[in-house]
Amino acid sequence: MIETTGLTKSFNRGKSTVEAVRGIDLSVAEGELVALLGPNGAGKSTTLRMLTTLLPPTSGSARIAGHSIETDRDAVRRSLGYVGQGNGGGHNQRVRDELITQGLCYGMPKQQAASRADELLSALDLTDLEKRTVGTLSGGQRRRLDIAIGLVHRPPLLFLDEPSTGMDPQSRANLWDHILRLRKEMGTTIVLTTHYLDEADSMAERVVVIDKGTIIADDTADALKAELAGDLVTLSLSASSSSGAAEALTAEALAAVVQGVDGVRDITTSGHRLNIRVARGDRALPELLRRSESRGFSIEAADLSRPTLDDVFLGLTGRSLRENATV
Ligand SMILES: Nc1ncnc2c1ncn2[C@@H]1O[C@H](COP(=O)(O)OP(=O)(O)O)[C@@H](O)[C@H]1O
Ligand SMILES: [Mg+2]
Repeated sequence: MIETTGLTKSFNRGKSTVEAVRGIDLSVAEGELVALLGPNGAGKSTTLRMLTTLLPPTSGSARIAGHSIETDRDAVRRSLGYVGQGNGGGHNQRVRDELITQGLCYGMPKQQAASRADELLSALDLTDLEKRTVGTLSGGQRRRLDIAIGLVHRPPLLFLDEPSTGMDPQSRANLWDHILRLRKEMGTTIVLTTHYLDEADSMAERVVVIDKGTIIADDTADALKAELAGDLVTLSLSASSSSGAAEALTAEALAAVVQGVDGVRDITTSGHRLNIRVARGDRALPELLRRSESRGFSIEAADLSRPTLDDVFLGLTGRSLRENATV
């Protein structure tokens, strides 16, 4: 559905040049749901605007549903729906009329445009609002209308730029229900951008992490976390074993507990606490507990925490995505 090679975009700003996108190679298959995750300024919107033919690339190429974004712009545009970042503003048209107008723009006869509008109103739970004017909708309702508008011409591919930014958690969850349903019912391929880590984590099967105009990771959220961050196991040990045969709780003794355990990446100790980064915490924990006990340490507390995508981003860039994110 999408195939890009070395896509780049530079903007001239006065005397300086901003390299917004620096060589993106991305391939998205039919039916995928892909989240482009990255901090503000990473180049997400610029990438979408090139893929939707709104912006010519500086170099590189891309095909959408087999059509070149440079030489076949009309075919590309017919293949996709695009909901840009922060559409909106007041609007006096009624919700249903707005959708019908869009259909007419795509050359549908009036009757067909009206039935398509009704279909989409129902698919996005907007039927009750059909007579409201667009300007009176809440943020979440407006976003659902934007998505409906993007789908009027039944595109196989839908781009959503920061669809949930600025929404309260409940509206975000509701929007996601709709996005997931669309995908299931219409088989639409969906590429969306977000800087919400939790959202990319829980909703998309595939997360493409973008930083400074390049893709720095591309996989399922689970795989990214397992490969790049690892689980964190924290053990609090005490030297007072019931058998009385405990070693002193030196850093060396603690390190010896961990030595040889599979998949360990990093160990830090603080007092009687051991923090262990390990590929699979669920597998390592029982062995760590056994080893601690066999050395005569008793276990006061054991904790296993899964990494977040922020740990992944931190591991890749040395920066936290949270610090960069402005909502
Ligand atoms: N029209 C433009 N003119 C100049 N610079 C731009 C323009 N659009 C985007 N940029 C710059 O390109 C970089 C990437 O922007 P953008 O693609 O909007 O990032 P994101 O969507 O990931 O937040 C930023 O540094 C931004 O300031
Ligand atoms: Mg953007």
